[in-house]
Amino acid sequence: MHLALITGANRGIGYALADTLCSRGFHVLVGARSLERGEQAAAQLRSRGGNADALLLDLEQPETFTAAAEHIAARFGVLDVLVNNAGIMIEAEEWNTNTTLTIPPAVLHRTFQVNFFGPVELTQQLLPLLRKSTDGRIVNISTILASLQLHATPGSNTYPTKTFGYNSSKTALNAFTVHLAHALQGTPIKVISVHPGWVQTKLGGKGALISPQKAAEDIAELIVAAEPPTGVVLFRGSPLPW
Ligand SMILES: NC(=O)c1ccc[n+]([C@@H]2O[C@H](COP(=O)([O-])OP(=O)(O)OC[C@H]3O[C@@H](n4cnc5c(N)ncnc54)[C@H](OP(=O)(O)O)[C@@H]3O)[C@@H](O)[C@H]2O)c1
Repeated sequence: MHLALITGANRGIGYALADTLCSRGFHVLVGARSLERGEQAAAQLRSRGGNADALLLDLEQPETFTAAAEHIAARFGVLDVLVNNAGIMIEAEEWNTNTTLTIPPAVLHRTFQVNFFGPVELTQQLLPLLRKSTDGRIVNISTILASLQLHATPGSNTYPTKTFGYNSSKTALNAFTVHLAHALQGTPIKVISVHPGWVQTKLGGKGALISPQKAAEDIAELIVAAEPPTGVVLFRGSPLPW
């Protein structure tokens, strides 16, 4: 049995991925910034036959990272899969907005805390446990909106969507993927950024195209792959431009 921790797993893509990994035999730790919401989600997964427990993890509260690492070390002694899924886009109501000139500094800082600084620090704290796995996986849930190449290409699908804080925090997350993969060369741990598609969740908003279940299946396929690539950004298994 493999142990997977997913941040922001009480709803949206994170919850769907927890459900999918449970059905594939993983023991899933449901990371949630509200223990109550995490426990509700874990109970729902267990009622569907899954092996799931809630774990308090707030990307804005680094002390929860330490407590989570200590808990996993004491109870399991190893972590096989970390999915940095929790994310926020809080600067605009509509995606086709350019917030570069208007985003308040506090919103920019908070976005980077949840989408970049938090995942980096959490990963650093969990690495000793991931190193104990025979086939460790770190999946950073990114977005096609992180692509600088597409943002600099008029006519690309993502060109008009210049939500500056969200996009740039995910560009930074992709940089983490590349640098971490390099740092972990020669170990079994694979590090992958994933664009899940435009998914029907609160964050995805109006017009989203695919169900959380479909997005979760694609991500799960990567997690269980015997030899996935490392240091890449993928959408349905194919590389995206940086
Ligand atoms: N939906 C899309 O179309 C799409 C496209 C590309 C990428 N993504 C990425 O996919 C990931 C999941 O997004 P989603 O669509 O599933 O969004 P969602 O439905 O809005 O869910 C976001 C999750 O993140 C959690 N979260 C927010 N702030 C947190 C914090 N400070 N600490 C811990 N957890 C926190 C939320 O918890 P609460 O319930 O407590 O708020 C919730 O569980 C995100 O990284 C997002 O950027 C989504």
